[in-house]
Amino acid sequence: TTYTVGYLIGSLAKASINRKLAKALVKLAPPELEMREIPIGDLPLYSYDYDADYPEVARKFKQSIADVDAILFVTPEYNRSIPGALKNAIDWASRPWGQNSFARKPSGLIGTSPGAIGTAVAQQQLRGVLCFCNSPLMNTVEAYIQFKPGLIDDEGVVSNDDTAEFLRNYLSEYAQFVKRVLTVLPRGG
Ligand code: FNR
Repeated sequence: TTYTVGYLIGSLAKASINRKLAKALVKLAPPELEMREIPIGDLPLYSYDYDADYPEVARKFKQSIADVDAILFVTPEYNRSIPGALKNAIDWASRPWGQNSFARKPSGLIGTSPGAIGTAVAQQQLRGVLCFCNSPLMNTVEAYIQFKPGLIDDEGVVSNDDTAEFLRNYLSEYAQFVKRVLTVLPRGG
């Protein structure tokens, strides 16, 4: 069985190291995972004033989440928290009330930062948000990737073999997690 995974990159920066990490994950993913990006950069700032009539860009965003089996968040840490652009995207997806796109949708978290704790605090906060949004979250393996210069190039090639192996194992665990969740909660269930 193949599972479709929509990944959200929490950074809008052109030179984002988390985008590099996402590219590496696409390259290293096992064959049963079909990876596609769900872009968040064109969403306006959310307000519940939109709930009665979501703009096209937000409808498409929610549809992209509905279309995949699972979500993977690849996010930086900004000021020891979730980047605003990513939190905004999550708020859009969680509404209108009763149409929460994350409900029963399995998800995983990963992120990279030059700092030694590698986005751990942002991921911890994101866990709380996703629990509230009723997304079954992979508890372990956790992945806090410290980005040293040259670790991953623009094409997503990982220069360090141990890191590449760690990411491969992370994705393998993630694939098994998604399979387990979808066995209990079938698609659309
Ligand atoms: C950062 N950075 C950062 N790093 C970290 O490990 N913990 C943090 O709390 C913060 N805070 C923070 C705030 C803001 C506004 C910026 C712009 C940056 C540094 C950050 O990890 C670094 O810029 C990475 O390159 C961000 O990842 P992307 O956006 O390149 O994927």
